[in-house]
Amino acid sequence: MSSLLRITDLSVEFPGGVRAARGVSLEVAAGETLAVVGESGSGKSVTALSVLGLLPEEATVTGGRIEFAGVDLLRCPRRQLNELRGRAVAMVYQDPLTALNPVLTVGRQIEEGLQRHLGLRRRAATVRAAELLDLVGIPQAARRLRDYPHQFSGGMRQRVVIAMAISCDPRLIIADEPTTALDVTMQAQILDLLRRLRDDLGTSLMVISHDVGVVAGLADRVAIMYAGRVVESGTAVELIGAPKHPYGRGLLASVPRLDAPSRVRFAAIPGTPPDPTALPAGCAFAPRCGHVVDRCRDADPPLLDAAGGRLVACWRHAELALGGAG
Ligand SMILES: Nc1ncnc2c1ncn2[C@@H]1O[C@H](COP(=O)(O)OP(=O)(O)OP(=O)(O)O)[C@@H](O)[C@H]1O
Ligand SMILES: [Mg+2]
Repeated sequence: MSSLLRITDLSVEFPGGVRAARGVSLEVAAGETLAVVGESGSGKSVTALSVLGLLPEEATVTGGRIEFAGVDLLRCPRRQLNELRGRAVAMVYQDPLTALNPVLTVGRQIEEGLQRHLGLRRRAATVRAAELLDLVGIPQAARRLRDYPHQFSGGMRQRVVIAMAISCDPRLIIADEPTTALDVTMQAQILDLLRRLRDDLGTSLMVISHDVGVVAGLADRVAIMYAGRVVESGTAVELIGAPKHPYGRGLLASVPRLDAPSRVRFAAIPGTPPDPTALPAGCAFAPRCGHVVDRCRDADPPLLDAAGGRLVACWRHAELALGGAG
């Protein structure tokens, strides 16, 4: 697999000893869709924001490497990162209002990127902006360019943000909880839109969600995060069908019908994620795990190949699989 984005051993901390990402490794191949799932606070956003250098100022990247198309993003000049951002890599956030400027028309905001990144003249940019709004399913696109964000519904605003994201033909779109703020019908529509655009444009997609049901039907591969680490990754079909890590097994306990991905839901796991300032010595999931043994409390299991391209960070995954434990 030739990877377009490769995150290796990324660690990010916040003041007060908050270990938000602890050696995260992820890859997105060209044309591939990776879903990153996990409970709130597991480090999904921190990982995504690191890619484009968008972490809050108080965050420190304490280690690791992020390569996009061969460029070392953590070490390249700020100017190069700014050029990549929005051009080669675009971001879609959970709340479209944070991505839109309330005092500029939607048309102006789309045109700005087209002018800056692609060097289009104003007129050509307006024509292209209307085409883009049309592409994402906004009726009467040319007229709607003159409207302000507040004149659109939540779902329509998310379409506008997606239009902005695809406007410069990015090679990778990172969508962080792109549908969480929307109702179920609108969620499905936005996911359909992302799927269609990805297929038509051949874009790679990294889509983040705390709800595996949202992304199951979209992803080629899935990475499950827990307490700042990837604890399991693999192809969507195999991982959702038979998670190997006890955390994944718990999350997907109520599951899995791949023919009806919208019915796939995380089950509630007893207990709460650990305090990121006071992580246990061994496996961070050990305090909530029904299969815990002494070894789990002593040493954090590395993320290792469990055959077939599946990576799992659990000392006991092989015996649990043999025993068919749930
Ligand atoms: N600005 C910040 N200051 C201090 N800690 C932060 C900050 N942003 C995130 N964190 C901490 O970093 C950890 C990872 O947060 P992150 O936002 O990546 O989680 P997430 O997986 O995206 O969760 P959610 O599903 O709620 O969006 C959490 O423990 C969080 O409290
Ligand atoms: Mg988040």
